[in-house]
Amino acid sequence: MRSTTLGPDGPEVGVIGLGCMGMSFSYDQATPRDETTLISVVHQALDLGMTLLDTADVYGPFTNEELLGRALQGRRDQAVLATKVGALTRDARGNPVMGLDNLPEHIRRSIDESLARLGTEYVDLYYLHRTDPQVPIEESVGALAEAVAAGKARAIGLSEVSVEQIKRAQSVHPIMAVQSELSLWTRDWMTEVLPYCQEQDIAFVPYSPLGKGFLTGRFSSHDDLPEDDFRRGLARFQQEALSTNLAIAERVREIAERMGATPAQVALAWVLAQGEYVVPIPGTKTPRYLADNAGAADIELSAADLAELDALPVPTGGRYF
Ligand SMILES: NC(=O)c1ccc[n+]([C@@H]2O[C@H](COP(=O)([O-])OP(=O)(O)OC[C@H]3O[C@@H](n4cnc5c(N)ncnc54)[C@H](OP(=O)(O)O)[C@@H]3O)[C@@H](O)[C@H]2O)c1
Repeated sequence: MRSTTLGPDGPEVGVIGLGCMGMSFSYDQATPRDETTLISVVHQALDLGMTLLDTADVYGPFTNEELLGRALQGRRDQAVLATKVGALTRDARGNPVMGLDNLPEHIRRSIDESLARLGTEYVDLYYLHRTDPQVPIEESVGALAEAVAAGKARAIGLSEVSVEQIKRAQSVHPIMAVQSELSLWTRDWMTEVLPYCQEQDIAFVPYSPLGKGFLTGRFSSHDDLPEDDFRRGLARFQQEALSTNLAIAERVREIAERMGATPAQVALAWVLAQGEYVVPIPGTKTPRYLADNAGAADIELSAADLAELDALPVPTGGRYF
């Protein structure tokens, strides 16, 4: 796969990475996972040059980092490994639950725990997963900077942040990457954040670049979503919204057919066309989907194709609620 770097001074990565969340979390929870297949997908990604691997402590929680730790035994140096902190907290009984905690002491403890689960001495990129209104971002980034100074993280990233929050973080430490949702049906960050990242040579890592699978044409009805699947609760996947949104997936399919590509490849090629240091991390646990996604790096969209895709309608429903 052709490569780029995470900003001009960042590590080299394949232009498409691998999001590992769905291997352990959020999607299709009811179906038992075959760990051998999941690990083979991670290895397949590395073999294909999709070297940016994305996880977080909250995925599972913890089990996704543990899975990656096992997958990377003997292959750690081939990956550019990113994990995240801040979207996981503890309930009154001390059990891990989804929730914000960006306190410096939490971050200091969490990096050590993530490294132990990942079986590595450092991560290449340590993200603040979400901003926490209770904790000034400068304090959280200060704790991330300590992890960099201690050699536990090579660089700092932020997820789902505004330009103002990026600037405040930059006043404490350089930011290598911003990860936020970006796809043909989620363009919110393109107005301000993506241009700011490009101006500042900060890599932009689009998450859910396949619209959580919708843009591939896999889901034509709410009932197509597996039981216990996180998407069942999302606004765009409710039956009424989904019925309207199907027109978007159908247009992507038509364009893909004309080009001799798959809808996933067209969706990813459009994301790749948004800038030099833009590295999408499509998620999959399926070998043939991974191969399909890798093929997107070779798709060239003409100006006319891009204009057609740019003109796709805005979806019905917010990206989460
Ligand atoms: N920073 C954040 O807050 C945040 C939030 C969400 C996600 N993320 C990261 O972004 C990564 C990707 O996002 P995502 O998983 O939400 O959404 P996505 O990449 O847009 O879509 C994943 C879905 O698409 C399916 N899929 C993948 N390739 C396909 C193909 N070629 N053809 C048909 N279906 C295909 C997957 O199926 P199978 O799984 O069945 O293979 C899965 O259901 C995550 O893994 C995670 O690392 C970050």
